[in-house]
Amino acid sequence: MGDFLLNINGAEHHLKASGDESLLSVLRNRLQLTGTKYGCGEGQCGACTVLIDGVATRSCQATLASTKGTRITTIEGMERNGVLSPVQQAFLDAGAFQCAYCTSGMILSAIALLKEHPHPTDEQIVESMDGNICRCGVYPRIVAAIKRASQ
Ligand code: FES
Repeated sequence: MGDFLLNINGAEHHLKASGDESLLSVLRNRLQLTGTKYGCGEGQCGACTVLIDGVATRSCQATLASTKGTRITTIEGMERNGVLSPVQQAFLDAGAFQCAYCTSGMILSAIALLKEHPHPTDEQIVESMDGNICRCGVYPRIVAAIKRASQ
């Protein structure tokens, strides 16, 4: 057990926990930030994606100890004063979800992609989003949403 100070969505959180605990577990089970989803728990599906210092990261694979001194962003940090972020709005406008279980991770991955490539090609989108699985298969609408967000 150790003392940890996490910066999540601009707010500081103090907690006592094992440094080996996954960031996903901390977010969901200790901080009730349940917008980040548990899919496979093995780094394969992308449902648990958050941003750590702006980099899309599988939170099921990140230990609490590894997040020391970082800035973590989850889906809860996207909306401001009731206004969705541009990528969230683009997903909504494009209907880029069906069951929506993958959507939080998709949006965080898309934000990281757009930071690196503000106007990505379809190929760049497909390649960059390859690690995020949508079991409903709405991939064409996800690509359309990211294109929309880039305009
Ligand atoms: Fe982390 Fe699937 S739950 S990648």
